[in-house]
Amino acid sequence: MSNEKIAKVVLGTDGPLVGVQGFGAMGISEFYGETDEAGARATLDAALDVGVTLFDTADAYGQGANEEFLAPFVKAHRDEITLATKFALVRKADDPSYRGIANDRAYIRAAVERSLRRLDVDVIDLYYMHRRDPAVPFEESVGAMAELIREGKVKHLGLSEVTGAELREAHAVHPISALQSEWSLFSRDVEKSAVGAAADLGVALVPYSPLGRGFLTGAFTDASADLSGGDFRRFQPRFTGENAKRNADLLEPVRAIAEAHGASLGQIALAWVHQRSQEHGLTVVPIPGTRKAERVRENAAATRITLSPAELEQLEPIAGQVAGDRYPDMSSTSAARE
Ligand SMILES: NC(=O)c1ccc[n+]([C@@H]2O[C@H](COP(=O)([O-])OP(=O)(O)OC[C@H]3O[C@@H](n4cnc5c(N)ncnc54)[C@H](OP(=O)(O)O)[C@@H]3O)[C@@H](O)[C@H]2O)c1
Repeated sequence: MSNEKIAKVVLGTDGPLVGVQGFGAMGISEFYGETDEAGARATLDAALDVGVTLFDTADAYGQGANEEFLAPFVKAHRDEITLATKFALVRKADDPSYRGIANDRAYIRAAVERSLRRLDVDVIDLYYMHRRDPAVPFEESVGAMAELIREGKVKHLGLSEVTGAELREAHAVHPISALQSEWSLFSRDVEKSAVGAAADLGVALVPYSPLGRGFLTGAFTDASADLSGGDFRRFQPRFTGENAKRNADLLEPVRAIAEAHGASLGQIALAWVHQRSQEHGLTVVPIPGTRKAERVRENAAATRITLSPAELEQLEPIAGQVAGDRYPDMSSTSAARE
């Protein structure tokens, strides 16, 4: 695998300069099975080595454990990386499946202090609202986030899973640098309105789960049979039972294109997400997650693959044929509000 560094892009009109592919740290602490800590630390080092600079976490991942896990890495490389974290998803220690959403000013002000402490930093480079509570106006939530910029606790703002109309409304309160939403060969809700709004406003798209939580790599088919008991994907409708079997068949054109390029399925899935940038005229910085150093290198190499118009055409119908939702409960996603 080449040691060449990935390209750099500016995240949003006023945002930081970052590697065109970021790193999602979530799976290191929760959701996708067991992690070996030494392997995960080697993975972070490998990411930096190939030019990944945007490291993504959230206060909700592992209920704070993921931020704490990242802290020593952040300390060792503070000036080389862009550190992104999120607030808004409220968890309960005694009920791992519980998810509340909090967007009010008092919550945001307390949440940022907890994240700064766990990450052991003075400032967060990119602070996202993880989920939107439509009962709280953006004047209050984004207003409170903007206060954090004025106070020097945060440098740039991001949102996750908002509609195009919501992005425009929030951006009018304070410029938003990045929108982090699910975007992959299997998940294209975001194209309904958010991508167009982001392109108009100069907001960068940060696609999460660009490998379809691993499904697009062909690593598993039926999550209920192939993955261990606590794995979150066992509860996602599209990854279990008949849906999973049908969805696995949708990978056939991805497999054929991968063979033609001498690439892996995952690399073709990532190349497709990167090429959304030209298709839609905006900056796109996907954040695939892995616990394995060799996979970081494989994923980074996908930034150098270009799919032909004919190949893109073959991949075009896939998302429309996927059986099953992206979440067991879609109520907090942008799709539920448009
Ligand atoms: N804003 C939000 O609401 C939200 C929601 C979900 C995720 N996120 C963020 O987005 C990041 C990425 O999303 P994600 O982790 O859900 O999904 P993803 O990046 O689409 O897929 C991660 C899965 O793919 C596997 N994988 C990675 N590279 C691989 C390769 N080259 N070959 C085979 N398998 C590979 C990983 O397994 P191994 O670890 O075993 O390699 C892991 O199980 C997260 O870490 C998180 O930071 C945000």
